[in-house]
Amino acid sequence: MRIGNSIAEAKKHLDLNGIVAIPTETVYGLAACALNDEAILKVFKAKNRPHFDPLIVHVANGTEAKKYAEIPTKLQPLANELWPGPLTLLLIKKPMISDLVTAGSDFVALRVPKHALTQTLLSQLNYPLVAPSANPFGYVSPTTAQHVAKNLTSVDYILDGGACEHGIESTIIGLEQNQIFVYRLGSTSLEEIERICNEPVQLKIQNNSNPKAPGMLDKHYSPKCRLSIYKPEKDAADRTGKALIWYGEDAPIGYENVYFLSKEKSLDEAAKNLFAILRDLDENQWSKAEINLVPNQGIGRAINDRIKRACVI
Ligand code: TXA
Ligand code: MG
Repeated sequence: MRIGNSIAEAKKHLDLNGIVAIPTETVYGLAACALNDEAILKVFKAKNRPHFDPLIVHVANGTEAKKYAEIPTKLQPLANELWPGPLTLLLIKKPMISDLVTAGSDFVALRVPKHALTQTLLSQLNYPLVAPSANPFGYVSPTTAQHVAKNLTSVDYILDGGACEHGIESTIIGLEQNQIFVYRLGSTSLEEIERICNEPVQLKIQNNSNPKAPGMLDKHYSPKCRLSIYKPEKDAADRTGKALIWYGEDAPIGYENVYFLSKEKSLDEAAKNLFAILRDLDENQWSKAEINLVPNQGIGRAINDRIKRACVI
């Protein structure tokens, strides 16, 4: 497997229906031609992903998006303001998007990623790319090319675009009975969505064991390390042999090691660091760790959502 920053090499493999890891502003994706079933099947296989879990489709811009799906008038302002960027829209698909991509649904998840390398790559292709996060199914999403290389050995090429700017996946939005719904909290905040739409949005975050979108299972994004939420009164006696992941500067004493999400209490910095730290717990073979939640505002909501899912055993 090769890692590099050659757009030509990434394109060569994609044109041959290969699979290529691509950088985005959120997390790395595992990309393949979205119009070729053989290529799509390789993505499912490499990730060990069940076929009932649909794939996000990535396009170069809003005009391209309209080739593959209908954008309702009510969602158009979001596309106009937030693309390219960490927003995924669930839209009625056009026929060239196969059932394999959508797991049989009439809806396709579409997004325009912002990373410069991937923008250039998409502009040179005459097809869209499926690109779920480039991690084995159920594991923590990758935010560097090295994370991808560690877990996915069968990819044809890894396009290295450095560490991802946001570090948390895109926000997934759709429309039901003309009402705006959020299906996954992500790098675009609810505040931003509501400002652009000028109306309140409804949350429909899947938590049960039979979800429409399995990426929203309770247990997801999980390290092997047993992670639990820090509780000051309970944990004081039981800190030996444990790591702590801490938001802020004044970490409690007694833990064997402390990882800082953001000493300056920057939610953006915490989002960027979270997945790399979760992976580091496993790299360093921590069997137990604790983590404190962050303020539940802006991207903090998505950070807390990922923290809670990483804590489910
Ligand atoms: O930021 C992101 O969105 C990253 C980057 C690489 O673009 N991608 C990503 O893909 O997070 P993935 O597959 O890990 O998460 C996409 C989520 C999954 O929970 C999937 O089930 C859901 O979106 N999804 C995809 N297509 C869908 C569809 N047609 N209907 C409902 N849910 C869908
Ligand atoms: Mg994922």
